[in-house]
Amino acid sequence: MWGARGEEKAGGACEEWSYQLGNKDTLSLKAPKKSPLALRMVVLTMTMICGVFICSMCMKQLGSDSWSRIVKIQVAEQSCNKSLVPPSEVQFVHYPQPLNYSRKECTCTPVRFFAIISSQRSGSGWFETLLNSHINVSSNGEIFSKKERRSNISSIIKTMDMVYNLDWNSSASKNECTAAAGFKWMLNQGLVANHAAVVDYFNQRGVSVIFLFRRNLLRQMANILAKYKPRLNTTTLMWSLKQADDYTRKALENLKSVRHITLYYEDLIQNRTMLGEVLDFLKVPVRKLVSRHVKIHTKPLSDQIENWDEVYNALNGTKFESFLNADYRT
Ligand SMILES: *[C@@H]1O[C@H](CO)[C@@H](O)[C@H](O)[C@H]1NC(C)=O
Ligand SMILES: *[C@@H]1O[C@H](CO)[C@@H](O)[C@H](O)[C@H]1NC(C)=O
Ligand SMILES: *[C@@H]1O[C@H](CO)[C@@H](O)[C@H](O)[C@H]1NC(C)=O
Ligand SMILES: *[C@@H]1O[C@H](CO)[C@@H](O)[C@H](O)[C@H]1NC(C)=O
Ligand SMILES: *[C@@H]1O[C@H](CO)[C@@H](O)[C@H](O)[C@H]1NC(C)=O
Ligand SMILES: *[C@@H]1O[C@H](CO)[C@@H](O)[C@H](O)[C@H]1NC(C)=O
Ligand SMILES: *[C@@H]1O[C@H](CO)[C@@H](O)[C@H](O)[C@H]1NC(C)=O
Ligand SMILES: *[C@@H]1O[C@H](CO)[C@@H](O)[C@H](O)[C@H]1NC(C)=O
Repeated sequence: MWGARGEEKAGGACEEWSYQLGNKDTLSLKAPKKSPLALRMVVLTMTMICGVFICSMCMKQLGSDSWSRIVKIQVAEQSCNKSLVPPSEVQFVHYPQPLNYSRKECTCTPVRFFAIISSQRSGSGWFETLLNSHINVSSNGEIFSKKERRSNISSIIKTMDMVYNLDWNSSASKNECTAAAGFKWMLNQGLVANHAAVVDYFNQRGVSVIFLFRRNLLRQMANILAKYKPRLNTTTLMWSLKQADDYTRKALENLKSVRHITLYYEDLIQNRTMLGEVLDFLKVPVRKLVSRHVKIHTKPLSDQIENWDEVYNALNGTKFESFLNADYRT
């Protein structure tokens, strides 16, 4: 984006300069015939020197711009004929050249980049196995669960570059006809901390985001404790719920400029037609998705929380009250 803007400016400046130069030229040519030859020669020479100087400046600016663009986007892409891709889609269509293998007959089959952004116990494991059951989708798992890959923004970008160049080796790696490549990213895995740089990267490389959250944060919390029938501390419960709510809200706000779709686990398990919308969003052919993953348990919350009455009283009448009653209607 930055490079493009710089180039526009440089182009404009060049035009402006040559426009003025042209005027000067016509002025000097229109000079009365009686003026001494020497004076005309001086004007001509000065005009020429000026022209050469201005042109070299413009070239330098253009040169440095294309150079900075090369430095920024390190991943080489296959040059394929994009004339059939609608203009609004061009930035999302990629032709990666993996280092380890050739995409063979799919060299010029477009690949879309995506990231599933979620938080723990939101059903993203189940959702990802569904996506990976599609022959053209490759979602490479929670790649940022390893700390060193997210220790700073350069490691984060290096890791994402590998995924999007189809060089990431995981069980989800597909054949050469991958049409959508991505991974799963939890909000607390360096995403919130680096959101500005990540948004820039996503927008520059045309990465689409699938937000997957859970409406019922109380259920999520009960599941995160990963204990049979946990006892929730009602003193800290309100604060925790508010924090989880804020965290999600902020993430959505910070990443809203990226092309995205927002899903809720509760809606997905009730309505499979939403999966078709996801495939449309990724621009892959719609087909049936399957998963052997067990769904997060759906039994009533009152059976899942040890001190249910206490929790009920703490949340009854607050803005989180709906979490107590909204159960699955399946
Ligand atoms: C790209 O494809 C279009 C339509 O298939 C064709 O008209 C055009 O000549 C192609 N361009 C190049 C550079 O091959
Ligand atoms: C980023 O982190 C990686 C891995 O932890 C490390 O090797 C590298 O030196 C760090 N780079 C910067 C600029 O801090
Ligand atoms: C990819 O990883 C698997 C194990 O996870 C390994 O067996 C295989 O050799 C790896 N492939 C390459 C090309 O590195
Ligand atoms: C490709 O090669 C790199 C190193 O050259 C390796 O780390 C990566 O796992 C390989 N990817 C696949 C899909 O085999
Ligand atoms: C999906 O994969 C199949 C099998 O590899 C391939 O024939 C097809 O062209 C791919 N579709 C897209 C849209 O890439
Ligand atoms: C609940 O959390 C508060 C603050 O951390 C703590 O003071 C209190 O002892 C906890 N209550 C129980 C029952 O664990
Ligand atoms: C399922 O979702 C789609 C849109 O995502 C909607 O049009 C449809 O009415 C929903 N069906 C049910 C049974 O809720
Ligand atoms: C919840 O609060 C309302 C008043 O705000 C009260 O009428 C109702 O009895 C409470 N529910 C339970 C189960 O205590």
